[in-house]
Amino acid sequence: MTQNELKEAVGRAAVAYVPENCIVGVGTGSTANYFIDALAEIKGQIKGAVSSSEASVARLKSHGIPVFDLNTIDDLPVYVDGADEINHQLQMIKGGGAALTREKIIAAVAGQFICICDESKLVDVLGNFPLPVEVIPMARSHVARELVKLGGHPAYREGVVTDNGNIIIDVHGLSISQATVLETQINQIVGVVTNGLFAHRRADVLLLGTANGVKTIK
Ligand code: 5RP
Repeated sequence: MTQNELKEAVGRAAVAYVPENCIVGVGTGSTANYFIDALAEIKGQIKGAVSSSEASVARLKSHGIPVFDLNTIDDLPVYVDGADEINHQLQMIKGGGAALTREKIIAAVAGQFICICDESKLVDVLGNFPLPVEVIPMARSHVARELVKLGGHPAYREGVVTDNGNIIIDVHGLSISQATVLETQINQIVGVVTNGLFAHRRADVLLLGTANGVKTIK
């Protein structure tokens, strides 16, 4: 199977986790897009979605799925999203698509986080994928200097402005053994909006696309 076929398989499998008549949290990226397309097939059975990016809002609306403002809802049973890396503790690096802050907000509200990935994303140690950090533009150099002190090699993601009007710094060269500690340390740097480590709020379920089918890891 191709990587896209694996992504499609997990996107379809995630629909089984969506309760009837609910509002569902929807992530961002190519794997999440497959979930949105599969969700469209059962759109009559849900109230709608909240979304982690303008791109996913557009895709949801193109399918006729109502999109709600997170502030207007009080129950979000499930959030479905991809990841750039996930370890065996279901801690993740996210934000390759620059949507990490809204993703983290929705994940914080959701009852269950269902992560959907092809098997290339499962790693023993997080950090080979550069860790995205969303930063207030005027703090760019300050944050980069502080990230160097933490042992990383920061790189400004040229030409990218987040949906929140901020910039992204990608941190290379990290081998992340204590993900919750590093997540907190980076978030303490003044000027950081948030970072792409999802360790304090990790996934509850991983649907992993493999050549032998979709594996469920809890
Ligand atoms: C976007 C994300 C995505 O979930 C992550 O980049 C994975 O994307 P894809 O499914 O395209 O591999 O965190 O900010």
